[in-house]
Amino acid sequence: MNPFENIATKVGFKNNITKQEHGLKCDKCGRTYDYYEFDNGQIVKDGCDCEMIELAKQRKADFDKHNRIAKANSIFKKSIINQGLAQCTFNNYQATNEELSRAKALCERYANNFSVDNKQSLLLQGTFGTGKSHLSMAMVKTVRAKGYSVLYMNVPQLISTIKGTYNNNTDITEQELNRIIGDVDLMVFDDFGINMNDFATSKMFELIESRVGKHNIYTTNLNAQELSKNKDMQRIFSRIMANTTLIKMNGEDYRMRGINL
Ligand SMILES: Nc1ncnc2c1ncn2[C@@H]1O[C@H](COP(=O)(O)OP(=O)(O)OP(=O)(O)O)[C@@H](O)[C@H]1O
Ligand SMILES: [Mg+2]
Ligand SMILES: [Zn+2]
Repeated sequence: MNPFENIATKVGFKNNITKQEHGLKCDKCGRTYDYYEFDNGQIVKDGCDCEMIELAKQRKADFDKHNRIAKANSIFKKSIINQGLAQCTFNNYQATNEELSRAKALCERYANNFSVDNKQSLLLQGTFGTGKSHLSMAMVKTVRAKGYSVLYMNVPQLISTIKGTYNNNTDITEQELNRIIGDVDLMVFDDFGINMNDFATSKMFELIESRVGKHNIYTTNLNAQELSKNKDMQRIFSRIMANTTLIKMNGEDYRMRGINL
């Protein structure tokens, strides 16, 4: 009886060895091992741990991925999204003019090519109801499906939420919110620029500053002049435009279709 069979009998393996080879050499670690196959299908390589190490690595990778997705989901839950956007996809966006058709194609490309290495941002700018929020949400879905962390914030509501954190009865502190916004793989600031009082302007400056050099999507109704109407807004606008592609989205208001005024 060889040493392994000896141990196997000692620890009381109930299964019988159906195949064995001795003195094999592992290509990976170079060690010599003995190979055993049991009648329950189990395989043992006595002398080489490569497969166990590989299995452990795989388990760890699965575990990390699971954790990453769980964390990404819990972050996404902090998003502030207006009703109606939940159903938005690229498929159900029907571009009604050339500019919007080009916008759709660029957004789709952005989402499909999303990777952490190649940090780029988009500014979707145009008139009401042309689908800026719709396409942003469609990008969010694609990027989330790839396992990235995403946060979607309607800016006016984000500002109210920040004010709300000053009352003690909210579930998140301003610091936590800042940290999450600074950390996510993709940040969406939807509807930037309207009703920007001094408080909103200084908060948005901090948040947008914390996102420079990362992936961001901004949507706005304001044009470049309106976005840089004073020094403070210019400071924000200049940071928004860092490594950012401007996508114009002008057209008829989709919300008003079929309505004759
Ligand atoms: N081309 C389109 N095809 C299908 N649905 C559309 C299209 N454009 C807009 N919609 C729908 O119309 C509604 C308004 O669009 P959305 O909110 O994306 O506009 P917006 O450009 O963000 O407007 P605003 O500037 O007022 O924020 C949404 O429910 C959206 O799903
Ligand atoms: Mg919108
Ligand atoms: Zn080996």
